[in-house]
Amino acid sequence: MLILAFESSCDETSVAIAAFEDGRARLLANQTATQIAIHALYGGVVPEIAGRAHTEAISQLTYAAFEEAGVKESEIDAVAVTNRPGLIGALLVGLSYAKAFAFAHRLPLVAVDHIKGHIAAAYYEYPALQAPFTALVASGGHTSLVEMKTPTEAVTLGRTMDDAIGEAFDKAARVLGIPYPGGAELDRLAGRGNPAAMRFPSAALPDSLNFSFSGLKTAVINEVNTRRQKGEAVIREDVAASLTAAVVRAVVTTLEKCYRQKPFSSFVLAGGVAANSHLRRAVAAFAEEHGVTLCLPSLPFCSDNAAMIAAQGYYEYKAGHLADLSLNAYPTARNKE
Ligand code: KG4
Ligand code: ZN
Repeated sequence: MLILAFESSCDETSVAIAAFEDGRARLLANQTATQIAIHALYGGVVPEIAGRAHTEAISQLTYAAFEEAGVKESEIDAVAVTNRPGLIGALLVGLSYAKAFAFAHRLPLVAVDHIKGHIAAAYYEYPALQAPFTALVASGGHTSLVEMKTPTEAVTLGRTMDDAIGEAFDKAARVLGIPYPGGAELDRLAGRGNPAAMRFPSAALPDSLNFSFSGLKTAVINEVNTRRQKGEAVIREDVAASLTAAVVRAVVTTLEKCYRQKPFSSFVLAGGVAANSHLRRAVAAFAEEHGVTLCLPSLPFCSDNAAMIAAQGYYEYKAGHLADLSLNAYPTARNKE
C-alpha cells in the first residue's frame, strides 16, 4: 500500500510517499523544507513564523513528492499526519492539509504521534526490527526513553523533567556564539576538545529513568559567563567536549539502569540528537557489551521528516487506528483527546 505523509510539528515541513509490502517499508519520496535559516535570526523557533512558513511550503512539497515518487494521487491508499506533540500553529498546517487531501480523495486518515514517528524512521534501514524493543528519542524538543510493546503501543519508561537534550546543546552553543541550532557544530568542536576540562552535573536523575537537562544547560552557561567575567579564555572545543561527555554519561548511565531493570534485545536511537557522533559511538559500545541489536538511523532519518510519519502511519493503519475529519492537534504527547 502507498501512504502519503505530512510532518509540520516544528520547523521542518515535510511530505513523504512510502510503499509498504508485507511489513517492508520502501521510501519513494521525502521532500523537506527547513526553516532553520529563518529562525536562526531569533536564536530559536518562533511559533507563528513557523506556521506561516509551513503554509507557504506545503503545497509545493506535495507536488514535488508526487513527482519524485512517480505515482499519481489516485494511487495513494491512506494519508498519515503528525497531530502531536508540537507547536499548535505549526501542527495545524499539516493537519488541515492532510485532512483536505483525505477528504478530496476519500482516503483513510491516520494520526501519528511525532515521538513514535521518530522511532519508526528505523524501519526503513532496519527491516528486521520488530516490537518489542526499546528506544531513546533525543531531539530538540523531546527526550523520551520508550518501550515499543507493539508497533503502535508505546510505554514511556523515562523522559526529561524539563529541557530536552537538544535544548541543552542549542543553548550551550548560543552562549558560545554558534548560530541556532548549534548541536551539529558542538559535535564537531567536541571532537577537538578535552572532555575532562570542565566537570558538569549529571543529567541522569537517580531512582528513575528520567533526565533533567536544565541544570546541565545552566551550568554550562554559568561556567562560560563566569570565565568571561574573570577574563579567562573560553575554549569552545573544551566546553563542547565537556558538555558532550556529560550528556553521553547521562544517556549511557540511564540505558544501563534501564537494561538492568528490564533487558531488551533491540534498541533504536532516534531524533535529531541521535546524529551526535559521540552519542552514537557510546550507545554502540553499550549495545555491543550487552549483545543488543542496535538500530541507528542514518542522519537524514534522524531529524524531522515525513518518511518516519509514513512508517508509523502504516502500523497505525494496520492496527485500525483511523482518524476522522474532526482530528485535532495537541501540544504534548500526554493530552487526552
Ligand atoms: O529531531 P529534530 O530535527 O527536531 C525536533 O524534533 O526537535 O532535532 C533537532 C535537534 C536540535 O536541537 C539540534 O541541535 C540537534 O537536534 N542536533 C544535534 C546534532 N545534529 C542535530 N545535537 C547534537 N549533535 C548533533 N550532531
Ligand atoms: Zn522531532
